[in-house]
Amino acid sequence: MLWHGGWASPSRGSGPGPCRLALYPRECQPLNRGPAQVGTAMRHAVPVPGDPHDDETDGQAAETVRQLEALATPSGAAALTRARELLADRTDAVTALTRLRSEVGVELAGPAWGIARQRERARPAFGADADRFFFTADALEQAGRPLLADRRAARLLADGARSVVDLGCAAGTDTIALARAGAAVVAVDLDPVARELTRLNAAAAGLSGLEVRAADAVDLVAAATGGRVAGCDAAVLDPARRAGGRRQLDPDRWSPPWSTVQALLDTVPTCAVKVAPGLDHDRVPAGVEAEWVSLGGSIVEALLWGRAPSRTWRRATVVGRDGVLHELTAATDPGDAEPGPVRGWLHEPDPAVIRSGLIALAATELDATLVDPTIAYLTSDAASDSPWVSSYRVTDALPFNLKKLKALLRARGVGRVVVKKRGSPIEPETLARQLRGPGEGSAVVVVTRVAGAPTVLVCAAP
Ligand SMILES: C[S@@+](CC[C@H](N)C(=O)[O-])C[C@H]1O[C@@H](n2cnc3c(N)ncnc32)[C@H](O)[C@@H]1O
Repeated sequence: MLWHGGWASPSRGSGPGPCRLALYPRECQPLNRGPAQVGTAMRHAVPVPGDPHDDETDGQAAETVRQLEALATPSGAAALTRARELLADRTDAVTALTRLRSEVGVELAGPAWGIARQRERARPAFGADADRFFFTADALEQAGRPLLADRRAARLLADGARSVVDLGCAAGTDTIALARAGAAVVAVDLDPVARELTRLNAAAAGLSGLEVRAADAVDLVAAATGGRVAGCDAAVLDPARRAGGRRQLDPDRWSPPWSTVQALLDTVPTCAVKVAPGLDHDRVPAGVEAEWVSLGGSIVEALLWGRAPSRTWRRATVVGRDGVLHELTAATDPGDAEPGPVRGWLHEPDPAVIRSGLIALAATELDATLVDPTIAYLTSDAASDSPWVSSYRVTDALPFNLKKLKALLRARGVGRVVVKKRGSPIEPETLARQLRGPGEGSAVVVVTRVAGAPTVLVCAAP
């Protein structure tokens, strides 16, 4: 819900006033009413198949759609420009809303402010598109990165697919990437707000001719025939994996659920499914490539590729700081890396390499071994500038003992440390505070297990 009308006088503090501006404050959301709301996509409840009809939910969605439509008019555009200026001037919310209300009217002020806030959040990932696109807080939270949506679209269309159905379009990130790549797109969502956002964003991107449809992806996939779904050559499925602001770890509780993911992979060869990074490898069907993508040291998406675009067993893709993609692939399971004694360099594998199960490939490339059979740290005699790892020169290795560690750091003149841990219950921030000292130097302190024993590896700061 963008804005609940009738907030007559914005007030400072934590009173109910600001909470009505539902584009950004989480605490305004109705409580999750249980598993039936897995499909909740925007900050209002989304109609979910089998869920009893909810007039209030429908009413909120209709109101949000009406607000979005109003923002798409010339006066809405003027309100958005003004809201952006106020945000750029770092005007506080209460003052900005008061001014907006007097300048653009009560109806447009709240929604314009809310959208402007989301645009600001979207800018780092969406660039220039952020200032023409419309997002609710939830739609933006669920949106993939345009850079990766473009890459996914190119790969999906590489073998000649011309039409694609986007099964759960949300704000239309995939729909737009696919249409820009030249596909005829059918964008589907159960949520009327998502459909409106996709319509507006496609129009803002100058794309015409794509179809936005109210439909249940579960039914569409169940009705797929001849390798096609909704009459399209290919499909993208990005199930909602959050409900009530919480991650749904169990794929059977995603919306659409795992059974639909599996059915799509089995019946539609040209497809891509976004899944949770923690997906159990045992769930990946035979012949389906699983890919983990990381950016800045965090996994940003995990994908299952249909049997047509699949090229390998597993793929780890690391997006470098320069935007260059580095891909590590294995046609079959490479097994585990060998363990060995700690040597002069410690290597921390990128999470995409860890999650994809390809540490053994990185170890071979680096001539490295694991510090412990159960811990994802590698060690070797040399530094590496490989994209698969971050390397640290080991200066000391000692059994974990706080007193001795403090004494060692003091002797080395180290007063600031970054603590990393793997296989240890310690709290990194707490230990970093405990190790703070008067010294000018800095170090990386790695708390882990080496050959089963709790160990600290002190490394030179990079
Ligand atoms: C994770 S979001 C998609 C995000 C989108 N790919 C992007 O990058 O912006 C999932 C979407 O699927 C929709 N959805 C959930 N269950 C659905 C179903 N059974 N049929 C159609 N849409 C569904 C939700 O309303 C939500 O908009």
